[in-house]
This record gives sequence, structure tokens and C-alpha cells, in this order.
Amino acid sequence: MSLLKVEQLKKHYIMKEGLFNRKKVEIRAVDGVSFEVREGTTYGIAGESGSGKSTLCMCVARLLEPTSGKLYFDGKEYTHAKGEELRRLRAEIQMVFQNPLSSLDPHMVVKDIVLEPVRAQGKNDDESVALDALEKVGLSRSVMKMYPHELSGGMAQRVAIARALTLRPRMLILDEPTSALDASMQAQVLNLFNELQREMKITYLLVSHDLSVIGHMCDSMAVMYAGRIVEMGSYDQLFYEPSHPYTLALLASARFLPEGVNGDKFALRGEMPSPRNPPVGCTLHPRCPFATDVCHVNYPDLEALGNGHFVACHNKKNVTEALEIARRI
Ligand SMILES: Nc1ncnc2c1ncn2[C@@H]1O[C@H](COP(=O)(O)OP(=O)(O)OP(=O)(O)O)[C@@H](O)[C@H]1O
Ligand SMILES: [Mg+2]
Repeated sequence: MSLLKVEQLKKHYIMKEGLFNRKKVEIRAVDGVSFEVREGTTYGIAGESGSGKSTLCMCVARLLEPTSGKLYFDGKEYTHAKGEELRRLRAEIQMVFQNPLSSLDPHMVVKDIVLEPVRAQGKNDDESVALDALEKVGLSRSVMKMYPHELSGGMAQRVAIARALTLRPRMLILDEPTSALDASMQAQVLNLFNELQREMKITYLLVSHDLSVIGHMCDSMAVMYAGRIVEMGSYDQLFYEPSHPYTLALLASARFLPEGVNGDKFALRGEMPSPRNPPVGCTLHPRCPFATDVCHVNYPDLEALGNGHFVACHNKKNVTEALEIARRI
């Protein structure tokens, strides 16, 4: 059974603007997203800036209230959990944010930062709990009295991970956990996540715009564009048999296509549309080299291609054919 199940999740922000803030604008940051994550695995979410990845994470962690849809953890719905139920859920699902320094309170020493979640839950806050968590992330006792500004970026992210581990959560939501770190730190922190997963059987939901991070870590993944999942499946399916033009473009721009394949022909034009005013039909069509008339009219459904591979594209056959031809040339 899956540990996390997300069903038709939507999060629409309402912004007020114009004279006297009378005009309401709806931003569909997450617009009907469904996926499942099996216990002990890592599920990746890829997509460029503004595609709704962080909003999705915050809803799953219940740091934001979803507009509609359903969330299940270990088979139990928690979409609108409150009070004691929400407190218990917080112990099971923890989140690690992108920027370690801004996610740590600058006025607190490491020991108090790490013990904050157990204190909030009224649980054992002995020094040994902090020491144990710090040891798990490869930090020694000497950091306990340090303030965040005394830590390097990599150390600060380890402290943030230690803080998330003190409650022994079953799931960690990692929102761009290494993008603020330099390359060698990035590799070390990703290896640490892998070790922790082996040791503690933690399930990860990992968001990254960097496909090499997703490739290094994930068993299954989804690609998001403008608030929706456009393709999902196993790592192998998405990296080796991409069927959506957007997945193909992401792979091409990160040079993940098979050797010799010229990725330029799969590149997208322009930028992601403003979420205030998304195009009619498929949201990708103004940028898509495969777009046809139907794409200007209807948003395509996510269709099953078999073995858990899903894609939302009217022209998926043309995409796979184009890749086949490019491979042969
Ligand atoms: N609090 C908010 N109020 C209004 N709009 C918001 C709010 N937070 C995010 N948005 C908008 O929702 C959309 C999705 O934003 P989100 O931060 O979830 O994307 P993201 O994929 O995490 O991007 P990035 O890769 O830059 O972190 C964007 O258009 C963003 O401007
Ligand atoms: Mg984000």
C-alpha cells in the first residue's frame, strides 16, 4: 500500500488587486494533481520555476490548506486534519526547505533548533536526542552551541535535516534540498539522504528542478508544468522513454538525451505562461514544437501507457516517434 496518496489536489491562491483591491485574481498554482508514494521509496517532482512544486509540498505537509482534493497518509485521510490529529501527523511528515540558513532561527543555538520539534510535541527533549540526530547527519557535539550564521551552507542543511529527524518521521518532504549548496556539498547531502533511507526506511517526496538530483535519488517521478502533472512513471520510463514534449525538453536542456541526439529540436520557445492568464487548451501549446490544432482547444487527459507510465499529451505518438528517429540518426 502507498504511504502517501494525493488525489485531485488543487491549491488556488486568490490575489486582490486593482483600485481598492476590489479585483480578485485566481492563481491556479496546483490544479488537480494525483499521485501515490510507496513506503521506503523516493518520489521525485520535477518542473521549472513556478510550476507549483513548493505549493504542492506545502499542501502535502499541511502547511497550506488545499483548495480541494484529498490527501491520505498510511490509508487515512488527513486533508482537513486539525488539533491533535494534525499534531500527530506533523510528527510523521516533516519538511526540509531549500534555503537552510533562512529556515533556521538566527537567534537560537543548534541544540535548541534541533530540539524544537520534540518540544512542540511535548516529547523527550534530552540533550541526547539532539546529539543522536546530529550524529545521524554526520555532525559532532561541537556544533550544539553554534548559531546558524556560524555554520556553512552544507552544515546548516544538515542541522535542518537533524531537526526533521528528531521525531523519527516516516516521510520527509524535501523541497529543493540541495539547490543552495555547491556541487560537492550537494553530492554529500544526497548521499546522506540515501544512507538515512537505508537506515531508517524513510519515504521521501523530493522536489527538484535539477534532473540529475532526481536521477540520483528517485524510484518514481512526476513532471509538473503550470500546476499539473504532465507525465509520471518510473525513473526509467521518464528518462529513457519520455512521451511528453515538456519532459523531452527538460531532458534535452539538461543533456540527458542519448548520446548523439541533438536536443535543440525539442527545445521549448519562450517562457512558462503567467498563471494569472493561462492559455486555453493545453497550457504548453504556445511553446510546444509538437502542438497541433487540438492543443489550442482541449487540455489532454492523463492517459495510461502501461506499467504505471502516464502522459497528458494529444501528440504523444509523435513525441516518441521523433525521439526514435533522433536516436537512429
Ligand atoms: N502565496 C502566494 N500567493 C499567490 N501566488 C503564489 C503564492 N505562492 C506561490 N504563488 C504562485 O503560484 C505559482 C507556483 O508557485 P510555486 O512556488 O509553488 O512554484 P515552484 O514550482 O515551487 O517554483 P520554484 O522552482 O521557483 O520554487 C507561481 O506562479 C507563484 O507565483
Ligand atoms: Mg519552489
